[in-house]
Amino acid sequence: MHAVEFIEKKRDGGEHSPAELQKWIAAYVEGAVPDYQMAAWLMAVYFQGMTPHETAELTLAMARSGEVLDLGGLGKTVDKHSSGGVGDKTTLVVAPILAAAGLVVAKMSGRGLAHTGGTIDKLESIPGWRAELSDETFLRQAREVGLVIAGQSKNLAPADGKMYALRDVTGTVPSIPLIASSIMSKKLAAGARIITLDVKVGKGAFMKDLEHARELARLMVDIGRHAGREVRAVLSQMDEPLGRAVGNAIEVREAIATLRGEGPDDLTELSLALAREALEAAGEDPGRAEAVWKSGAALDKLRAFVAAQGGDARVVDEPERLELAPDVFELRAEAAGVVTELDAYKVGLAVLRLGGGRERKGDAIDHGVGVRLAKKVGDRVAEGDILATVFHRAGRGLEESSQRLKEAYRIGQRAGVPPLILEVVA
Ligand code: URA
Repeated sequence: MHAVEFIEKKRDGGEHSPAELQKWIAAYVEGAVPDYQMAAWLMAVYFQGMTPHETAELTLAMARSGEVLDLGGLGKTVDKHSSGGVGDKTTLVVAPILAAAGLVVAKMSGRGLAHTGGTIDKLESIPGWRAELSDETFLRQAREVGLVIAGQSKNLAPADGKMYALRDVTGTVPSIPLIASSIMSKKLAAGARIITLDVKVGKGAFMKDLEHARELARLMVDIGRHAGREVRAVLSQMDEPLGRAVGNAIEVREAIATLRGEGPDDLTELSLALAREALEAAGEDPGRAEAVWKSGAALDKLRAFVAAQGGDARVVDEPERLELAPDVFELRAEAAGVVTELDAYKVGLAVLRLGGGRERKGDAIDHGVGVRLAKKVGDRVAEGDILATVFHRAGRGLEESSQRLKEAYRIGQRAGVPPLILEVVA
C-alpha cells in the first residue's frame, strides 16, 4: 500500500491491518516515509482514533522497530512505570521492595519531562551513580543484584523516539492510542514479563480526569496481555504532589526515609500498593511487600543497587550526604484555615524555575534545588505558619518560583481529602 493511500484510509476512518502497520512503522524508521507523511497520519489518528486491536498491533510494530531485550532466564522480571507526576519518587521505593521480595527489577527509566520529574535525574543526585550501562552490565547486575535501573537506550523502540518528537511539535501528543502505544512499545522492548503501571490522574498529571485515565489504563493493560505480559495498572490521584518533597536530591532523601518507615503516608501507601500488585501478578504472596519493607531488606537492596551503579551507598544511611541547595526561602500562610488545594502542576513549575528540571532538551539541571511542603491538603494552618520551604541557589529563579508556589496553595475553611488510590485495572 502506498503512503498516501495508507494516510487516506485512516483519514476516512478505516482500520489498518497488522501487516500494513508493520510496513508503515518499518518504512518510517528506515526513512522511506518522511516526517510530513507521518505527521499527517498522526493527525488522522488523533481525530479518527484506533481500535484496541489496531493499537496493540501498532505497539508491537513500534516495540520491534529496534532492539528487544531478552530477559529470559533471569526469573520473574518486573518493570514499573509511572505516567508522570510531581514528587513521584515511588520507583525508588517500589523497586528495592520488589527486588528484596525476590523479583528481578530490570528497568529503563526516563528523565524529567516538562513539569514532571524523572527517576534518572533523581538518582543522578547520588554522587557517582551512573545511568549509562552496556547491555552486558545491565543483564549482569539484574542477575547479581536483582535490581538495575538504566537510562533509556536509543536502540529501544526507536520508532517511538522519532514519533514522539514529531507529536510534540504537531499537536498530536494527547491521543489515547498514541500515548498507550508510545509507553507500551518501550515497556515491551525492555523485556520484563510483569509490568506495573501507575497512571496518574489530576492537575499535575497528563490525564486530567478519571474517565480518560481509565481508558488509557485499560488499553495499556490489554496491549500488554496481547503481547503475553502480565500487566496491572493502578490509577492514583495527582491533584497535589506525592509526598512532601519535590526536587531531585530532596526526593531521594524522602524515598530513603520511606524505606526506613519514616516517610509520608501517601508515598508509603502508594508504594506498598504498587509492590503488592506486582507481587500478585507474579504469583507471589503480596504480603511480602510489607514484610521486606519492615525488615530493612528493601533498604539493604537499595544500598547494593546504588553501589553496583557506582554510587556512594553511604547516602542510604546518611541521607544528608545528598546535598541540598544552601539558600532557603520560607513561604508563609497569610491567613489561618485549612489547605483546600495544592496544585501539583504549579509546584512542578516552581521547581522547574529553580533549575530542578529542564526548560529545553539537554539543559543541565541543579539536583540540589527543591521544595519541602510543610502543609498539604487537609492540614490546618495558623497565620504566619510555614507552608513550604524552598531550597534555591543564590536566588536563581526564586521570584517566579515562589510566585507559582504561592498560587499553588489555597486556604479555606474545609477540605475534603480525596482518596489516593482510585482504581486498579487488571
Ligand atoms: N509518555 C510517553 O512515553 N509517551 C507518551 O506519549 C506520553 C507519555
